Amino acid sequence: MKKILVIHGPNLNLLGEREKEIYGQTTLAEINARLEDLATPHQVALKIVQSNHEGEIVDAIGQAKKDHIDAILINPAAYTHTSVAIRDAILAVHLPCVEVHLSNIYAREDFRHTSLIAPVSYGQISGFGVDSYLLGLKALMNLLNHNDH
Ligand code: DQA
Repeated sequence: MKKILVIHGPNLNLLGEREKEIYGQTTLAEINARLEDLATPHQVALKIVQSNHEGEIVDAIGQAKKDHIDAILINPAAYTHTSVAIRDAILAVHLPCVEVHLSNIYAREDFRHTSLIAPVSYGQISGFGVDSYLLGLKALMNLLNHNDH
């Protein structure tokens, strides 16, 4: 059985009430349920973490090997644009990573156009709402199946 670490960054615990015109109505619990529904039939287990704290996210990534994680799906939220520490953690564990965003970060403020995480990720999916997560998970499951990362 493959295991994927899903990380939701800061303020994503507020989905469903936070800037609904940008992030939609879907709550984090609903997103997680959709991810589980997609993963389970493929014999993929998810470890899902949400944190508002950069260090906790760094710790979750750093512990991935010990947790027998095969790949990482991450929405780093605001840390996308600032966190050298999360970027270094991804580099350190050497696991395939896909970065996702609900909104299209390139259609928003200039400061959101830079991702420190995308260059150390396998790829980035941005702008499709909840589908960004589902597409990201699919991409990682395909990657693990083809074993060519
Ligand atoms: C986000 C985009 C980020 O710029 C923002 O800080 C978020 C959410 C998204 O999913 O669209 O918190 O990652």
